[in-house]
Amino acid sequence: MSCSLRPVGPAHRARLEQLTRGTGLFREEEVATAVELLDESLAGHDDYQFVGAFEADRLVGYACWGPTPGTEATHDLYWIVVDREQQGSGIGTRLLREVESRLTAHGARLVVVETSSRADYAPTRGFYESRGYTRTATIPGYYAPGDDLVVFTKDLT
Ligand SMILES: CC(C)(COP(=O)(O)OP(=O)(O)OC[C@H]1O[C@@H](n2cnc3c(N)ncnc32)[C@H](O)[C@@H]1OP(=O)(O)O)[C@@H](O)C(=O)NCCC(=O)NCCS
Repeated sequence: MSCSLRPVGPAHRARLEQLTRGTGLFREEEVATAVELLDESLAGHDDYQFVGAFEADRLVGYACWGPTPGTEATHDLYWIVVDREQQGSGIGTRLLREVESRLTAHGARLVVVETSSRADYAPTRGFYESRGYTRTATIPGYYAPGDDLVVFTKDLT
């Protein structure tokens, strides 16, 4: 079934939490952060934008992004998550393209994505690298001993 891209509403909150947790990649506090950002967004906080990928009414993925405070037209891609059962079928690519096209339309300059150096994030790093993102910086031991912060950026200009 092909998916459609639509806003994420209050009715999808529990499902967003479930599919984020269901990836098996994120710590519980990270899952809680994703839900908090959705709550902020639903409360009208412009700093967090969400788009969802849906199969019928079922949320199968989402992306969350927003302007990076204190910068000139830099934006953070905070979250991009696809239901574990449906990964590898093009949904993440559709979400990423949608985010980038909305950002370009709003004059965004640079997209920043933070991820981990852990081995279980290797497919995620490959996903960004093959979609035009450059590994720009590393902070050794940022998340935990041996678990570095890896920063990817893409110039949209
Ligand atoms: C990373 C993620 C958003 C990509 O979305 P997706 O729908 O699985 O990816 P697509 O089908 O659009 O693209 C497939 C590409 O992603 C890569 N990929 C990354 N994670 C993958 C996964 N778990 N399963 C299959 N492919 C994956 C593939 O290697 C493939 O790369 P290629 O096109 O260069 O060969 C998704 O796999 C996911 O939610 N992963 C877990 C959460 C995560 O890591 N989010 C990012 C946090 S920083």
